[in-house]
Amino acid sequence: SPPAKGHHFLHIDDFSREQLLAMLDTAIEVKARLKSGDNSFKPFAGKSMAMIFTKPSMRTRVSFETGFFKLGGHALYLGPDDIQLGKRELTKDIARVLCRYNDMIMARLFAHEDILELAQYSSSPVVNGLTDYNHPCQIMADILTVKEHIGRYEDVKVVYVGDGNNIVHSWLRLAARLKMEFVCACPKGFEPDQATVAAAQAAGISKISISHDPFEAVKGADVVYTDVWASMGQKDEADYRRQRFKGFQVNEELMRAAGPQARFMHCLPAERGIECTEGVVEAANSIIFDEAENRMHAQNAIMMHAMGVA
Ligand code: CP
Ligand code: NVA
Repeated sequence: SPPAKGHHFLHIDDFSREQLLAMLDTAIEVKARLKSGDNSFKPFAGKSMAMIFTKPSMRTRVSFETGFFKLGGHALYLGPDDIQLGKRELTKDIARVLCRYNDMIMARLFAHEDILELAQYSSSPVVNGLTDYNHPCQIMADILTVKEHIGRYEDVKVVYVGDGNNIVHSWLRLAARLKMEFVCACPKGFEPDQATVAAAQAAGISKISISHDPFEAVKGADVVYTDVWASMGQKDEADYRRQRFKGFQVNEELMRAAGPQARFMHCLPAERGIECTEGVVEAANSIIFDEAENRMHAQNAIMMHAMGVA
């Protein structure tokens, strides 16, 4: 059943291009207000948000909690040992209880079906703070960062180098709404989900391809993006993956092949010496901390739109 009071934010392409651009406009506007020191804007006054985490987090936890507080609301952190989603209590019962107390639920979970189930049973909007399948808030922050550094949301070439993971799935879903060239350069066997690639291509808006040649793929990129080779839940495969991902490190040589216009992006946390190098992380064209800051601004806007207060 649809939420009684607002809209879930589960996947980027659940929204139209116009809705996404409206959220990004709100993000820019509210960011400017907060940056100017204006603390009078309190659209979440009297509201509360429950945040469920079954995985670790720094950015997601702090940016949601702080952003919601700055805009007048109260957020509560429920860690892996608190409600023990799916272990102590059924997900559908958790959803139906939490929405009785809270105006919004944010969740970072393993199985994507679990967030879909939360959304199905919650009468308050559910916001996706990452699942094994996708990470839509991250990619909304990323495209906001692209706009700030490159000057536009569309007609950019984004080349992701590494594992075809949750980050890639959200880039693909963004590329189904905003026009861009998106390339995922990954080792054979680590491609993103085939149905997600096909759906993004079928949207007919962007040029989307999968490559196994990072040096060829990055040529002319506006953004070279990477992420860890072993995501949360895959850390026991880290050694095996390091072998399989040889040649896919984003290092100075690869950035040179991309060209002087290329910015470096990473959702963080970064493992220097593995998927990227210290030199690339610290280079002048690395925009990773602006990107991290924009998590808060993008999410403030996402939450305002989800709650119908934008
Ligand atoms: N990028 C990101 O989601 O960071 P955390 O895992 O620290 O939340
Ligand atoms: N792909 C990473 C992203 C972390 C923000 C993970 O899922 O662990």
